[in-house]
Amino acid sequence: MRFQVVASYILLGSLAGARDTSSERRECGLAVKTTSGTYTGLVNSTVPDVNQWLGIPYGQPPVGARRFMPPEKAPNYGTADAKAYKPICFQSSGSKTGVFWELVPEFQNTDPQSEDCLYLNIWGPRKPVQKKVPVIIWVCGGGFKEGGGHAPYQVPDQWIQRTQTHIVVTFNYRLSVFGFPGSPAANKNAGLMDIRLATEWLKDNIAGFGGDPNRMVLYGQSAGSNAVLTYAYAYPETPIVSGFIASSGGTTTTNPTSSSLFSDLAQTAGCANLTTTAELACMQNIDALVLQQKVKEASTDPNRGLFRPIADNVTVFANLTDRLEKGLVAKVPLITGFTYNEAAAFLPFDINATTAPDGAAAPGSGGLACGVTREIVNRSAYGLTTYGYLYSGNFSNITPRYWLGGMHSSDIPIVFGTHAQFRGNSTELEWQTSYAMEAFWVSFAANPSAGPRDHNGQTWPKYTESSRQIVVFGNATGPSASYVAPVAIADKYGGPC
Ligand SMILES: *[C@@H]1O[C@H](CO)[C@@H](O)[C@H](O)[C@H]1NC(C)=O
Ligand SMILES: *[C@@H]1O[C@H](CO)[C@@H](O)[C@H](O)[C@H]1NC(C)=O
Ligand SMILES: *[C@@H]1O[C@H](CO)[C@@H](O)[C@H](O)[C@H]1NC(C)=O
Ligand SMILES: *[C@@H]1O[C@H](CO)[C@@H](O)[C@H](O)[C@H]1NC(C)=O
Ligand SMILES: *[C@@H]1O[C@H](CO)[C@@H](O)[C@H](O)[C@H]1NC(C)=O
Ligand SMILES: *[C@@H]1O[C@H](CO)[C@@H](O)[C@H](O)[C@H]1NC(C)=O
Ligand SMILES: *[C@@H]1O[C@H](CO)[C@@H](O)[C@H](O)[C@H]1NC(C)=O
Ligand SMILES: *[C@@H]1O[C@H](CO)[C@@H](O)[C@H](O)[C@H]1NC(C)=O
Ligand SMILES: *[C@@H]1O[C@H](CO)[C@@H](O)[C@H](O)[C@H]1NC(C)=O
Repeated sequence: MRFQVVASYILLGSLAGARDTSSERRECGLAVKTTSGTYTGLVNSTVPDVNQWLGIPYGQPPVGARRFMPPEKAPNYGTADAKAYKPICFQSSGSKTGVFWELVPEFQNTDPQSEDCLYLNIWGPRKPVQKKVPVIIWVCGGGFKEGGGHAPYQVPDQWIQRTQTHIVVTFNYRLSVFGFPGSPAANKNAGLMDIRLATEWLKDNIAGFGGDPNRMVLYGQSAGSNAVLTYAYAYPETPIVSGFIASSGGTTTTNPTSSSLFSDLAQTAGCANLTTTAELACMQNIDALVLQQKVKEASTDPNRGLFRPIADNVTVFANLTDRLEKGLVAKVPLITGFTYNEAAAFLPFDINATTAPDGAAAPGSGGLACGVTREIVNRSAYGLTTYGYLYSGNFSNITPRYWLGGMHSSDIPIVFGTHAQFRGNSTELEWQTSYAMEAFWVSFAANPSAGPRDHNGQTWPKYTESSRQIVVFGNATGPSASYVAPVAIADKYGGPC
């Protein structure tokens, strides 16, 4: 063992700076050779059994002539540290208001932003239960206009510290006009191609970090969930991953097939009235901060600043029924579900209010549940293995207002094991719900075709047209194993579709 460590040090040429025994021990296995270079991670004493590699480039900086274009693989940059986060991608959120900024800011990234943002972070066990562990690749949400690889609630270090069972990877992908420009002269959905490139990078490199490239799942929430499901339709033959987890976000069946937003923005940015090619080149030369500011200004009109995926029939398809019918979807299992009160997160929020805002009277999931439900039902009809869930938790250290309950995103800290970190300890049900979801997720990543299993050995029945069963997590008044119960989906919880 010892010999191997030393040998790999010599192989990687990283002996320098690791002379004394303690630092050598601390650093062992932390220098990993990848296609982007050799990166040395760290161990943080707050989670001593977790290896962390922060800020590894997976793509070339998408700047200059690469702006708006498909990402390119990062070249070999030589030897570098991976001990600190890199900036997140430019966000186009205007005012920092609403429940996720004012009440529970741990859902948000507040890190520095940059156009040079194609970086990923890897957390892995120091005492892995297997030689090569399964890998969960996290695709963050944020409406394709905000979000990044390391919001406080989305840091998996405590989860891995506790279980030592798996690796979690988080990464940034381009957002807003930078990721979804919609220029007639450029690729429409560069941000989605970033997600693909990250997955390809992990296939090539995760083994060096102790991960199993043949047991990786793509797990996204909200816009990230939409991206994961969209990915399944875009790479039917080469999904790379062996399972998908899609939380609180269905596919969009009404993606536009073209958009004038890019030209509209060009008008305000000093690139007016050009041919599409000249317009693109002009927009690639505008200072990124200026462009970001122009998007923010345009965003005051919800129709103008909304850069989103466009159905180009390459990365995003206009007719998903057609894809399903022709079998043009990755035939790997899917876990998907929604929270019982998604909609509460989108109500007008007043930090000082002591009573529920209008519209919060009856908890509801609205359109988010519809997309998920449609996916479950349609996939099952076409024989694709699908596991459905309803997250029913209502925990006051995550949603500290009584009307929020299981609002959109409130399941994230439960899965990432971060629920008890910011507003006091969690209840016993909350811990048990967290352990159950975590175990289901990891067992699914370990062997998607075997069916998910929780920490008590409880199985999760797949959805069938006849049983119409999904699992309920965190039901405070449920049966003894209160985090898992079959319910008929949709009709009861889907809300108006
Ligand atoms: C270690 O973790 C703590 C708590 O998350 C954090 O505040 C600190 O910055 C981390 N240190 C390093 C070197 O990453
Ligand atoms: C672009 O064309 C419009 C309509 O023809 C015109 O009103 C506008 O002044 C032009 N803008 C520039 C910068 O040339
Ligand atoms: C994509 O396919 C749909 C039909 O499924 C078609 O209406 C649309 O024009 C196509 N879009 C592009 C960009 O090819
Ligand atoms: C799924 O089924 C619904 C009807 O329930 C249909 O409108 C939709 O287009 C189908 N396909 C997909 C992929 O959602
Ligand atoms: C989508 O594809 C299905 C199956 O090929 C077809 O029946 C349906 O008409 C298409 N829908 C649209 C809106 O083109
Ligand atoms: C909430 O109360 C604080 C303290 O009284 C006050 O400063 C703030 O303006 C109030 N915010 C709103 C949105 O009413
Ligand atoms: C959450 O639970 C509290 C009691 O702990 C209850 O008053 C409230 O109605 C619940 N909220 C929702 C949205 O279900
Ligand atoms: C947190 O709560 C759990 C469950 O109620 C309990 O077992 C644990 O001891 C508590 N931890 C702390 C640090 O208070
Ligand atoms: C929670 O459990 C109660 C009691 O068994 C049941 O009536 C209710 O339907 C359950 N809720 C969900 C969302 O399954």
